Amino acid sequence: MSTVQTTLILLKPDAVQRGLMGRIIDRFESKGLQIVGAKLMQIPRSLAERHYEAHRSRPFYPGLVRFMTSSPVMALAVRGVNSVAICRRLMGATFGSNAEPGTIRGDFGVSNSFNLIHGSDSPEAAVRELELFFAPGEVVDWTRGADAWVYDLSSGTPE
Ligand code: RTP
Ligand code: MG
Repeated sequence: MSTVQTTLILLKPDAVQRGLMGRIIDRFESKGLQIVGAKLMQIPRSLAERHYEAHRSRPFYPGLVRFMTSSPVMALAVRGVNSVAICRRLMGATFGSNAEPGTIRGDFGVSNSFNLIHGSDSPEAAVRELELFFAPGEVVDWTRGADAWVYDLSSGTPE
């Protein structure tokens, strides 16, 4: 089913520090996804803890929170038909050591913990996470002229 979704992407501190923001954003834009929100931010500890609260009992959780708060991240709201799943596929497997070439994690990193990017893993998670990172009005509903060529709009819904 073709549903327009908006998903949360975080370019993690390693991506920002390594100067990879532009090249990673290019993957999403080149694919045909639309950037509807973007901001560079230092994540407060409380936000990192809430964002990853599903992992609270996991052994890697303290290190994950420390990493995510160690240096700025870039938060992106990325929109498109089925954008949640498409972004996850573009990101690749969680660990850089076994992510497929052609994916963001596969092409730009080798580390398992410093894996460059976060993406919401379900439409429900996307709604929750976008609310954590973007205040009302910070996600901009703009009309993209290229949509008529990115999608087949002849049926009235983007295909
Ligand atoms: P993310 O939430 O950041 O998009 O990553 P993911 O869905 O691919 O992976 P997830 O299982 O949600 O894990 C969240 C983040 O925790 C770190 N991690 N470390 N050392 C470990 O065993 C381990 N497992 C997970 C990674 O930074 C992962 O992205
Ligand atoms: Mg996850």
